[in-house]
Amino acid sequence: MLRASLLYLSEQPRVFKFVRGNPIARKLASRFVAGETLETAVPAVRALNAAGITASLDLLGESVKSHQEASAAADTAIAMLERIRTDKLDSNISVKLTQFGLDLDPARCVANTRRILGRAKALDIFVRIDMESSAYTQRTLDLVERELYPEYPDHIGVVIQSYLYRSAEDIARLNALKMRVRLCKGAYKEPPAVAFPAKADVDKSYGQLMEALLLNGRYPAIATHDEALIERTKAFATQHGIGADRFEFQMLYGVRRDLQDRLVKEGYRMRVYVPFGTQWYPYLMRRLAERPANIAFILGNVMKEGMRR
Ligand code: FDA
Repeated sequence: MLRASLLYLSEQPRVFKFVRGNPIARKLASRFVAGETLETAVPAVRALNAAGITASLDLLGESVKSHQEASAAADTAIAMLERIRTDKLDSNISVKLTQFGLDLDPARCVANTRRILGRAKALDIFVRIDMESSAYTQRTLDLVERELYPEYPDHIGVVIQSYLYRSAEDIARLNALKMRVRLCKGAYKEPPAVAFPAKADVDKSYGQLMEALLLNGRYPAIATHDEALIERTKAFATQHGIGADRFEFQMLYGVRRDLQDRLVKEGYRMRVYVPFGTQWYPYLMRRLAERPANIAFILGNVMKEGMRR
């Protein structure tokens, strides 16, 4: 119930307008978001790199309303690539196709994404296409598989969500294509017609898809904070002689930092998704929906800090 309400609020632009100016909300966001600009995100990436963790920089933002906005988002993605190289950061980038105009004009969206991939290839930096709600799954996969992957096979990969019924088929096809996949559970509000409503089924599906990716995928990314699934991944890899250099774990900025460090100490590869930008509200609401206890936890910390001042 609370999860559904938070996901509903994540889609309300008027609430964002109100929340953006609110200092407590901004403080809440700073736990999960590395500031509003690339300038604030770079030190966060540096700190992770110093701890043996790679990063994926993500400019927050979803559906744009104009071609100018779409083109500006592509320019920012290119600036992120340049910055990664000039500052020698160990990072790739994550982007969403609706940022580049998927809803406005798919051809222009492809042109914007190609512009980014051209630069990414020249600089040898990988670009991950995040997966959005199920309204975009087919369009995203079609566009990547048909238009972009053939030209940039080493620099583009997608995300598959274990809550969708269709994902086993998608993974089998992507494995055959040798496309890099990040596996996550899925963060959007989806109807039972397309996604498993019960968490136990989402987790079961995740385990099965993880195994298919480790056995037949190309350098898969196992993106979860679920300790049981992480242990299962480690055990499955050991059992099948799959070395720790053939896959990576991924987690979100600010979530389970203890587990991130522990996995690095154990010799696993760890990449942290580092979001930044002014459009942090829907992202924050999805994080709170995953773990409503965060609201109490973070508010408690904010109040403690406030009282110390
Ligand atoms: P689950 O939600 O079951 O949580 C397992 C445990 O992890 C919890 O019990 C808690 O201890 C901890 N935890 C999880 N979320 C937490 C939080 N917010 N705060 C504190 N603790 C938390 N989704 C999507 O739809 N498209 C995408 O492209 C991506 N991309 C992506 C990249 C990366 C690197 C990650 C890690 C995740 C995504 N996601 C995503 C989000 C993903 O779908 C999912 O919503 C979250 O990862 C939470 O699911 P878990 O797998 O962590 O399991």
